[in-house]
Amino acid sequence: MTSSIVSLQRAGLTLRSGTGQVEILKDISLDVAPGETLALIGPSGSGKSSLLMLIGGLERASAGRVTTLGHDLNSLGEDALSRLRRGAMGVVFQSFNLIPTMTALENVAVPLELVGVSDASARAGAQLDAVGLSARSGHYPSQMSGGEQQRVALARATAPRPRLILADEPTGNLDGVTGAAIIELLFDLSAQHGATLILVTHDPELAARCSRVVSLRDGRIDESQPA
Ligand SMILES: Nc1ncnc2c1ncn2[C@@H]1O[C@H](COP(=O)(O)OP(=O)(O)OP(=O)(O)O)[C@@H](O)[C@H]1O
Ligand SMILES: [Mg+2]
Repeated sequence: MTSSIVSLQRAGLTLRSGTGQVEILKDISLDVAPGETLALIGPSGSGKSSLLMLIGGLERASAGRVTTLGHDLNSLGEDALSRLRRGAMGVVFQSFNLIPTMTALENVAVPLELVGVSDASARAGAQLDAVGLSARSGHYPSQMSGGEQQRVALARATAPRPRLILADEPTGNLDGVTGAAIIELLFDLSAQHGATLILVTHDPELAARCSRVVSLRDGRIDESQPA
C-alpha cells in the first residue's frame, strides 16, 4: 500500500545469540496510515522494541519486507538509511542514547544542525522549554535524573518535526504528572505537524489514547487481543 507511512509484509527478525539463532519477530504484517497514532503493547520480551527497531531501520528484516516512509528498507544502504532517519524520523529509545559529552541543549541542537536547520540552537532551546527543561539546558546527561534525560531524548526526537515518531516507552521513567505532560506534548506535536506516532507502552491509559492498539505475543501480532 503506497499511502502507508509504514508497511510490513510478513516481516521476520532472527538474531544470532550464543546458543544459536533466535526468532524474535515472526510473520508481522502491519500497515500504518499517515497521522495515525499506534500503540504497541504486549508482555516483556514479546518483541515490541525489536519491532520498533525494524520499522526505524535499526535492525534489518531477516524475512519479508519493511517499507517506511515509502522506502523499502531492505534495499536501502546504511548512508541512505541514516539520512532518512535523521530527516524524517524521530526515535526515542528505551535507553535514551544521549551523547554524554554534550549538554542537553547540544544533544537537541546537533541533530538539527545536521539536517540544516539554521536556527538550531534557538529551536533546541524552545523544545527543551516545551518539555520543561529550560533550566537544565547547560547540564550534561550524567547531571540529570533518568526522567530528565528521557525528556531531553524526547525533545531531540521531536525538534526536527519528523513525519514519523517512534517512541519506546516514552513515559517509562517519569512520574504520573510529568508523564501525562509529555504525552500531551507528543500528541500535540504529532497533530500539529501531521506526524505519525508509533509508541510502545505498558500503560493502558496511554494505549487507549492512541487511534489503534496492536498487541504482540511471542514475536507475533496477537489477533485475539481486542484493539
Ligand atoms: N540482540 C539480541 N540477541 C538475541 N536475542 C535478543 C536480542 N535482542 C532482543 N532479544 C530477545 O528478543 C525478544 C524480544 O525483545 P524486545 O526487546 O523486543 O522485547 P520487548 O517487548 O521490547 O520487552 P520489554 O517490554 O521488556 O522492553 C526477547 O526475548 C529478547 O531476549
Ligand atoms: Mg522493550
